[in-house]
Amino acid sequence: MKLIFLGPPGAGKGTQAVGVSAHLGVPHISTGDMFRSAIRNETPTGLEAKRYLDAGELVPDSVTIAMVRERLAMDDCKNGYLLDGFPRTVDQAMALDQIDPPEAVVDINVPDERLLSRLTGRRVCGKCQGTFHISKLEDEHTCPICGGELYQRNDDQPETIATRLKAYHDSTEPLIDYYKGVTEPRLIEGNRLKTVNGDTKPEDVFKNILASLE
Ligand code: AP5
Repeated sequence: MKLIFLGPPGAGKGTQAVGVSAHLGVPHISTGDMFRSAIRNETPTGLEAKRYLDAGELVPDSVTIAMVRERLAMDDCKNGYLLDGFPRTVDQAMALDQIDPPEAVVDINVPDERLLSRLTGRRVCGKCQGTFHISKLEDEHTCPICGGELYQRNDDQPETIATRLKAYHDSTEPLIDYYKGVTEPRLIEGNRLKTVNGDTKPEDVFKNILASLE
């Protein structure tokens, strides 16, 4: 299956993508993770992307589309993919429809007022990349899965979160209508959008996502 997770920063796309990609047997491709890895490895893409991530702004489409095009050409994408964080602009969505169109797009819906506390409280494991919330951790420095050290993402500060939310509303939210098939231009006819309530327990969100795909 070729699937996209849409939703604002902190909606739970990464959290849900781990279980859903394993369930469907397709690779979980997170453009945010790809950029963070490129930044750590100081690749040309990473050096270009860093200032955008630090500011909470979108990386230019040309860079992002080229990176995803290359990733989708890899062998493990032959039977599908789960894209998390891509596309984020109408131009990215149109490019994807030309490269390898998604069959379904799950919009994980969470009101803005819930997102700030989810993001400021997020901790990520530097070893296994697991994502947690401090409210659920006994020790906010240690990964409960592998014992690795937990850190806070640079862009999980309130000012940067505000910029990310604005980028979501300005550039990414229009994709809801794009995938409903109600806006011009469109390359593919029909409604590919499934909307799931993300403002509930993670295990219920998981069940609702699978139900929306049946
Ligand atoms: P990216 O890494 O994609 O960040 P994002 O979209 O802002 O999404 P997040 O990872 O912040 O949130 P999430 O929805 O995955 O939530 P999570 O599961 O972690 O992008 C980062 C940057 O990269 C962008 O700002 C941009 O610069 C660049 N970039 C990436 N893709 C790009 C593109 N296509 N074009 C241009 N630039 C791009 O959960 C969040 C927290 O909530 C966690 O603490 C979690 O434990 C908790 N939580 C999860 N589910 C629940 C629940 N059901 N109930 C309560 N808490 C929950």
